[in-house]
Amino acid sequence: MARFETQVGVVGAGPAGLMLSHLLHLRGIHSIVLEAKSRAYCEERVRAGVLEHTSVQMLNDAGVGERLEREGLRHDGIELGLNGVRHRVPFVELTGKYVTVYGQQEVVKDLIARRLADRGDLRFECGEVSIEGIDSEKPRILVNRDGQTDEIHCDYIAGCDGFHGICRGAFPEGVLSLYERSYPFGWLGILVEAAPSQKELVYMHHPRGFALYSMRSPKITRLYLQCKPDEDIREWSDDRIWTELHTRLNCEDGWRPVEGRILQKGVTGMRSFVVEPLQYGRLFLAGDSAHIVPPTGAKGMNLAMADVHYLSNALGALYVTGDERNLKSYSETCLRRIWKAQRFSWWMTSLLHRFENEPAFDRKRQLAELEYVLSSRAALTSLAENYVGLPLDRQ
Ligand code: FAD
Ligand code: PHB
Repeated sequence: MARFETQVGVVGAGPAGLMLSHLLHLRGIHSIVLEAKSRAYCEERVRAGVLEHTSVQMLNDAGVGERLEREGLRHDGIELGLNGVRHRVPFVELTGKYVTVYGQQEVVKDLIARRLADRGDLRFECGEVSIEGIDSEKPRILVNRDGQTDEIHCDYIAGCDGFHGICRGAFPEGVLSLYERSYPFGWLGILVEAAPSQKELVYMHHPRGFALYSMRSPKITRLYLQCKPDEDIREWSDDRIWTELHTRLNCEDGWRPVEGRILQKGVTGMRSFVVEPLQYGRLFLAGDSAHIVPPTGAKGMNLAMADVHYLSNALGALYVTGDERNLKSYSETCLRRIWKAQRFSWWMTSLLHRFENEPAFDRKRQLAELEYVLSSRAALTSLAENYVGLPLDRQ
C-alpha cells in the first residue's frame, strides 16, 4: 500500500476534473486526478461541441485557449427551422456575444497536454476508487488496482466523475434531494466526413421529430435525429439514417445536408437531473456528477466549466487568505446557474421535439409558441441570451 498527500483529490478527468486541476495549479494548489479510463479513451470520446462565450473566456484566461482560438469555429448565430424554412437567430446582433464550436474531446486534449506539461499528477486507468472520511478534516481516496490499495490523503475531494461516478453515492443517506425528469425520446447522433454545407447550426422542428445539423471542423459534420430512448442502433443502416435526415432537414430553398462517410454512430438518452446540495463535509460535486441537461440547449460542458470556476475560486480564497465564505456558499452559487440552464434546456427540448401521444392541444400550442418565438425580437433575444451563456455570478 502506498500513501500520498495532496490538497485536493479530484475524481474524474473529464472537462470538470481537468479544468479544476489546472485552475488550482494556477493558484499554487496541488491536486491529484484519478481517472478510471485510459488517456486515449478520454481524448477520443465524442460528446458536446458548443462552448459559451464564458467558457471560451475561462479557457483563454487560464492560458489553455490557444488552439481553441486557432481552430474553433466562431458562430454568430443559429438557425431554427419550421416547415422546411430556416430562420436565423442572430446572437451578436441580439446580445453582442457569440459561441464557439470546438469539440469537448479537443478541450480535454488541450487540458491533458497542459497538465502534463506542468508536471500535474494525472493517474489514468487508476483502478477502483472509493472515498472515506468526508466529514473529517482529512478525507481519503482509496484506489484499488490489481489487489493493491493506494491511499490518497486530501484536504478536500472534488467529485468530477460524471453521472455514473461514485462520489454522489458517498453522500450520507438522506442528505441529497434529487430532482429529475426523463424524456420519452433520445438522440441518434452521427459524425460524418463531409464539409459543412451551411455555416451555422440548424435546429429543425419536424412532424416526424427533431433533427439537428451541427459540425466539428471545416471537414467534419455532426448530425442528430430524435429517436426512441431505447433505439437499437443496429436497426439504423447508413441509408436509413440519411433518408430520415433528408426528410427532416431538407429545406424549401434547396438546402440539404451533404452526405459523407459515417465515422461514428450512437444513441444518447435525454434527461434533466439535479442533486442538491453539491457539498457535504469536505466533498464537493462538480459537472455531470451533480446535474445532467438534455443536450438541446448545448449546456452540459459549459455548466461543468462554471462549477469548477466557482470551486477553484473558493478553494483559492481559502488557501490564500483563509476566507471560507465562498466555499460555504459553493453549492448555492452553482445551483442558481444550474437551474437557469436546466430551465433553458428543458424549454428548448419542449419547443422542438415531437412528444408521442401528447394531446392535440399541446401540439398546436407548441407550434404557436415556435411561430411566436420566430416572430418576436424579445423572445429571440431571450433565447440568444441563454444560448450564448448567462454571465457568471460574482462570488
Ligand atoms: P464527464 O465528461 O462524464 O467526465 C467524468 C470522468 O470521470 C470520465 O472521464 C469518467 O471516465 C470518470 N469516472 C467516472 N467514474 C469514475 C470512477 N469511479 N473513478 C475514476 N474516474 C471515474 N453536452 C452537450 O452540451 N452537448 C452534447 O451534444 C452532448 N452530448 C453528450 C453525449 C453523451 C453520450 C454524453 C454522456 C454526454 C453528452 N453531453 C453533451 C454532456 C457533456 O458531454 C457533459 O456535460 C460533460 O462531459 C460533463 O463533464 P464532466 O467532466 O462533468 O463529466
Ligand atoms: C453538437 O455539435 O454535438 C451539439 C451542438 C448543439 C447541441 C447539441 C450538440 O445543442
